[in-house]
Amino acid sequence: MELNLPLDAANSPYPQLFSSLTLGRRTLRNRIAFGSVFSGLVERGEVTPALINFLANRAKGGAAMLVAEPFGMWRLVGPAAQGRVYGQMNLDGFRRLADAVSAHDSLLIAQISEQGRGDVRAARRGGAVAPSALPDDLSWTMPHAMSIDEIREMTDDLVLSTIRLQACGFAGVEISAGHGHIVHQFISPWMNRRTDRYGGSFENRMRLLDELAARLRRECGPEFIIGVRLPGCDGLPDSIDWGDSALIARHATTSGSYDYINFVQGSQAWTLHHHLPDMHGPRGPYIDRIGWLKGFSNGVKVASTGRILEPVQAETLLSDGKADFVMLGRTLIADAAWGMKSAQNRDADIRKCVSCNNCWAVSIAGGPTQCDNNPRVGMSEETDWRPSRTAAGKRVTVIGGGVSGLEAAWVAAARGHEVTLFSNSAELGGRVRLFSRLPGCESISSIFDYQIATAQRAGVHFELSHQATASDVAGCRPDAIVLATGGLFCWPEQLPRSLYDEGLVADMPTVLRDLVGRSSRIGGTAVIYDMDGTEMTYAGATLLADLFDRVVIVTPVECAARDQATVKKQSIHRRLMEKNIEVITWSEPSPDSRFEEARFVHRNVMTGRQGAIEDVGLFTYATARAPHNELLPVLRTVCPNIYLVGDARNACSTMNAVQDGHVTGCNV
Ligand SMILES: Cc1cc2nc3c(=O)[nH]c(=O)nc-3n(C[C@H](O)[C@H](O)[C@H](O)COP(=O)(O)O)c2cc1C
Ligand code: SF4
Repeated sequence: MELNLPLDAANSPYPQLFSSLTLGRRTLRNRIAFGSVFSGLVERGEVTPALINFLANRAKGGAAMLVAEPFGMWRLVGPAAQGRVYGQMNLDGFRRLADAVSAHDSLLIAQISEQGRGDVRAARRGGAVAPSALPDDLSWTMPHAMSIDEIREMTDDLVLSTIRLQACGFAGVEISAGHGHIVHQFISPWMNRRTDRYGGSFENRMRLLDELAARLRRECGPEFIIGVRLPGCDGLPDSIDWGDSALIARHATTSGSYDYINFVQGSQAWTLHHHLPDMHGPRGPYIDRIGWLKGFSNGVKVASTGRILEPVQAETLLSDGKADFVMLGRTLIADAAWGMKSAQNRDADIRKCVSCNNCWAVSIAGGPTQCDNNPRVGMSEETDWRPSRTAAGKRVTVIGGGVSGLEAAWVAAARGHEVTLFSNSAELGGRVRLFSRLPGCESISSIFDYQIATAQRAGVHFELSHQATASDVAGCRPDAIVLATGGLFCWPEQLPRSLYDEGLVADMPTVLRDLVGRSSRIGGTAVIYDMDGTEMTYAGATLLADLFDRVVIVTPVECAARDQATVKKQSIHRRLMEKNIEVITWSEPSPDSRFEEARFVHRNVMTGRQGAIEDVGLFTYATARAPHNELLPVLRTVCPNIYLVGDARNACSTMNAVQDGHVTGCNV
């Protein structure tokens, strides 16, 4: 496809964003950079075709500069999932990667990012090193304090590996001195208690970074871009706050070593979630702070990062002089063609990042990057993808207007099928729409907003507020049926089912649908039985906290949000604590509960001990979801070609529901 990016800023709807930028002796064709994102696409230390696609797609989609994920550049072996540069005889994969990115007139930058003692998983690591023998704040990994020789050896290795990547065609390198990585550990007085020339005074703590940058500049020459991610506020006691960050920026930028700087927040600690601000906070939460830090940067170009989702946000911050370019992470995971679409004034076509952080969760678990709102991450056909039209158009009936049904419907229609979608609700989006109405969750609506707009353009016919029957479906004379009727929370077996049948107890979505938008308080205590663990349940709990005097979550496992990645768990738990929501762990409802007396009894699953909560005005449950597909047998008599998608097949995440619908739309 022709990129059709405007060649000059004057032709662009976003003239600042699409003006060129000089970084050192190189020129970027616009002000969009892709930040380093660990992709999980490396295998056995080798660059894979999937990693090449992942980065090349974003170059093709309009990013003028891309910072690759961290590679193994030091003899101390990093995570197995890292591409290995140090000690690697054959660097062909890195060459192919650099070629694939430069084919789109983009620059590829490597990232030096060594963990030291840090780890984003709650697991202690052996063999870690750090400035001082102090435990990592998140994983409790205990490192040994590096000797002067080890520091020199590390610097030698990093410089050598960078030179090797330069020879492969990399245009520059970025040193990660934030995020709790090893350089951050040296700079922070909280993590560095050395008494030699690498510890103590500010200058000594900055020495490792200063020496590394100076050597890189010396060895790699003036054409090579050198950037650094400096710590913004890391949120730790006696460590680095915004004021310290300004001093660090001023010091670093007097050396003349850097072509750009960028600021990142949080650390590998209880502040991990600061570096991935989620949907519950404001957009662009760091733009103003970074703008302020720019004043301490001696004219070195500054990149702004952190939940910059819309081109207009980027344009405004650039026009306001708050940064020289934007470095986007999740925004470009969600849509590789964000730059291209912005340049072409197609903002409504962008699949926006909803700041759910599920991409992070998947990558940290060792999988390849995936996204709730981009079912094609890293595929060879990803950038500005539209399906090719089929020669054999069919009649396709989709039952269910949630995100899996909608995704299947728009893709099938865009392929040229005649698609009718039935939804029993007047509004499309299903459970995700309800999620979007909960406190702080509005952003998630971007998933179904995009699907609805695309489905309308593709000509999907909607039958809304209509519970589809077999005869409705038969009337469509379908060649294929997509059953996307979702799932239903299972009744908690410990309690008599009569409570449900008599309408005394309802599941969480039913309760939330009733209460969302209500402003008058109800009072009393709300109890949630939680075997779900998803963000939606806890967002629902915060809604209840605004209406009831007390909210208690009872869960049969060790904590709320048990299955969530640390970065998500931290922000979920923080919100629960802020709202004083109590969590009773290892417990389930007891049949001794007396709801007619407003008394809920919980029973510890380990010890059998019981406890009671009085004044219960509401009891609800979010449990495992069973497929809600009782139409299936009768539909088989209408058309044998039936696709079950999303929860109607197996309870799944929003990410999997969208993917499932997408694949079905492609195959139907
Ligand atoms: C899945 C994922 C992996 C990331 N991996 C890295 C990494 O390896 N190195 C790094 O410096 N930042 C990493 N980041 C942080 C991003 O570069 C970026 O700073 C962060 O996502 C905030 O920007 P955004 O709001 O545009 O996403 C990662 C972010 C995500 C979502
Ligand atoms: S998974 Fe969520 S946070 Fe990550 S890029 Fe996609 S929408 Fe954004």
